[in-house]
Amino acid sequence: MEKEIKQTKLLMENLSVKYLGLSLKSPLIVSSSRLTSSVENLIEAEKNGAGAVVLKSLFEEQINYHVNSIKSPSGFPEADDYVASYTRSHSVDEYLGLIRSAKKAINIPVIASINCYSSEGWIDFAGKMAEAGADALEVNVFFMPVDKKVSPADSEKSYFDLIEKLKGSIRIPVAVKTGFRFSNILYVADQFYMRGVEGIVMFNRFYEPDIDINKLEIVSAPVFSQANEMRYVLRSVAMVSSQDTKIDISASTGVHNGSDAIKYLLAGASTVQVCSVLYEKGMPYLNTMNHQIKAWMAEKNFKSIDEFRGKLNWKNYQKPVVFERTQFMKYFSSVD
Ligand SMILES: Cc1cc2nc3c(=O)[nH]c(=O)nc-3n(C[C@H](O)[C@H](O)[C@H](O)COP(=O)(O)O)c2cc1C
Repeated sequence: MEKEIKQTKLLMENLSVKYLGLSLKSPLIVSSSRLTSSVENLIEAEKNGAGAVVLKSLFEEQINYHVNSIKSPSGFPEADDYVASYTRSHSVDEYLGLIRSAKKAINIPVIASINCYSSEGWIDFAGKMAEAGADALEVNVFFMPVDKKVSPADSEKSYFDLIEKLKGSIRIPVAVKTGFRFSNILYVADQFYMRGVEGIVMFNRFYEPDIDINKLEIVSAPVFSQANEMRYVLRSVAMVSSQDTKIDISASTGVHNGSDAIKYLLAGASTVQVCSVLYEKGMPYLNTMNHQIKAWMAEKNFKSIDEFRGKLNWKNYQKPVVFERTQFMKYFSSVD
């Protein structure tokens, strides 16, 4: 009986949120990865309570790789061009097919994802994705500065120029997924907003090199995140969400259970993306996480996500200084 009452009470908690103008039944989004590259997986995601899915990115690199690997050795440049263009449109066609099938198979929002380095490539693909029915587009951008003469301001301008072009060419909402290595993330988010971007995904978790000291080689650092990596993101979410801009935040990195998701929501994220933990525990774990969020809401007496979203951000927390300071004497002395 007690269990029944508890269950009924949990059903009263409403997890619905708005993100990029779309209505989601849960703030949990399955983030872009192989987990979202097949219709079967997307159906599983919906069945297990995902609020939305971000499809695996279409990588410009990936397309170029295919093009180069099957380049005709004919010595006829026209033939090479034909193969290159065929392969390119073929990869794109497959992706557009995935969007169309996803839209037929599931009812939750389908967010397409694109990862490009040239502005011309982007614009082409983006328009086609919108036509294929994507509800929104997540644009995965990060330029690694490799030239000491390029200032941070010039570096950042590349993002803004790209976004301007993109926003000028498509109507569906756009979220920019980027990294956290900016001198001033508040400025960057503001500039995105000024250019009409509806959302910012904070943040992508990039490939990082590691060193194998036995082989004396550069290897890849772990592909999957740890929960403690949230520490690199939480402050930025709390600070960006406290601005008077209307840009939605989707928090990504280190969400391994319902409590982690709640932390990002309290910091002001509209949605929370989940990836590594679903590789480790499977899609049904989404259900567990939704349940954990509901159980916490029931305990704290929150009926909707909006009742607590941003409650502990930079503006709303009674001691905002905790977000501003990075070098607390007390913090370090606690372990001295
Ligand atoms: C195997 C794998 C593949 C990924 N592929 C993509 C991708 O295609 N596009 C993208 O934007 N992010 C990609 N990501 C990054 C994830 O979407 C996510 O932002 C990142 O893993 C951080 O979230 P997590 O801590 O929940 O794993 C990938 C991550 C993993 C582990």
